[in-house]
Amino acid sequence: MPPHEPESVLRAARLERRWATLSVFIVAFLVAMAAYAGIHQAAMPQSRVETADPRTLHLAGEFIESNLGSAVEPDGSVLVRAIGQQYSFTPQCIVVPTQTPVTFRATSADVVHGFLIAGTNVNTMLVPGYISAISTRFETAGDRDMPCHEFCGTGHEGMWGKVKVIDRAAFLAMAGDRRRLNCVE
Ligand code: CUA
Repeated sequence: MPPHEPESVLRAARLERRWATLSVFIVAFLVAMAAYAGIHQAAMPQSRVETADPRTLHLAGEFIESNLGSAVEPDGSVLVRAIGQQYSFTPQCIVVPTQTPVTFRATSADVVHGFLIAGTNVNTMLVPGYISAISTRFETAGDRDMPCHEFCGTGHEGMWGKVKVIDRAAFLAMAGDRRRLNCVE
């Protein structure tokens, strides 16, 4: 009796085609995901490269001291600028409102630091020479820890900041008096 060669060959070809189709879908899905992350600035590292010279951070450009902290943008969102350096953040305490789109723009003045806000999607690196931008939204008020989570030297474990989320109305009232806010005491 001859083996069922034709039938088994057909079956193999069918499986092969199915698997080929599936792999095309997998590749298309991955490409779509990468494109989405790039467009929405969710890639790590980000595809849109912005630079800041770490040697002149405090002298010129958007990261001079008077420009650090939280400010209300014309569209009602909040923009926070911060710097990481061995072994602290500036500002050390960041104040943000609830129920508001908040964008962080931060960089490092020396080595690579981590920038993470507990309980949020904010989790990136601060790389000297580059600006990290990440957006989030805080639904409820309260304090969030902001540890540096990249080993940056002997003082790394002591490098902690704090994010104070306050009621939107209170934040706007504070923002009325001063242009840049922080909660450093
Ligand atoms: Cu900065 Cu670890």
